[in-house]
Amino acid sequence: MPIKKAIFPVAGLGTRFLPATKAQPKEMLPVVDKPLIQYAVEEAYAAGVREMIFVTGRHKRPIEDHFDLTYELEVALEQAGKEELLAVVRSVKPDDMECVYVRQAQALGLGHAVLCGRRLVGNDPFAVLLADDLMVGQPPVLQQMVEQFKEWRASILAVQEVPPEHTRRYGIVAGTAVNDRLMDITRIVEKPAPEQAPSNLGVAGRYILTAGVFDEITRQPRGVGGEIQLTDGIAGLLRREKVFAYRYEGKRYDCGSKEGFLQANVELALQHPSLGTGFRDYLKHLTL
Ligand code: G1P
Repeated sequence: MPIKKAIFPVAGLGTRFLPATKAQPKEMLPVVDKPLIQYAVEEAYAAGVREMIFVTGRHKRPIEDHFDLTYELEVALEQAGKEELLAVVRSVKPDDMECVYVRQAQALGLGHAVLCGRRLVGNDPFAVLLADDLMVGQPPVLQQMVEQFKEWRASILAVQEVPPEHTRRYGIVAGTAVNDRLMDITRIVEKPAPEQAPSNLGVAGRYILTAGVFDEITRQPRGVGGEIQLTDGIAGLLRREKVFAYRYEGKRYDCGSKEGFLQANVELALQHPSLGTGFRDYLKHLTL
């Protein structure tokens, strides 16, 4: 069973990027020349996902506009003979990709956001992508996870080693190694203090989950920060079925923080086909 649907929780306020996010969704902040949300959507599409479910909130209309047809722009580019730009604009939403939007009226937490997508997901396994985490991998990280899912037919969470002093930023997992990259999870804790963390493996913002997680989320009391946590729902799920942690191949940029966002901009600019060389020269000159 392939993964055809993905949930993108995008209702957050983005307070860490104020004032940039005062009147603009944080997911629309560009890394080089593409908004953050587009990186996540492209990653999902590359993994075979065709139905993108955005859990949005007030002030998130620019996301809907971004993935909509921009008729006037396309006509103008066509008339001006700007074929390359026209292709760039059209590639944002391929014809076989569907975008649906559901509102999360109150920001009650990531678990709650995922629950808002329940009716649209139905009973099939699905992906969750947090656009704050910009993942660069070859093959793309979600695709690596889909491969694992095909083999194991169970929920898969992307994990990476995190500095022990940073456990408070992540869901932390522990379990039994299946192979170099895969672990059968026995415990997952949301944002533990370093001395309480069961390991230093932190969950990155990519999940493949079975639909059983929805019921589990509804059973959980409010967790860390008074929020309904996805991690707590997954903790419930792994009492009933297997959940694996997958150490992905690739790099994660924490674009929920200014440092990570700036690093992503610099590194992706260096890799950019038309900007890379010039930008490298610029940086060399700058650091002299
Ligand atoms: C969320 C999850 C956390 C996960 C993290 C990855 O936290 O709750 O378990 O490790 O994303 O980025 P947030 O960063 O939204 O606080």
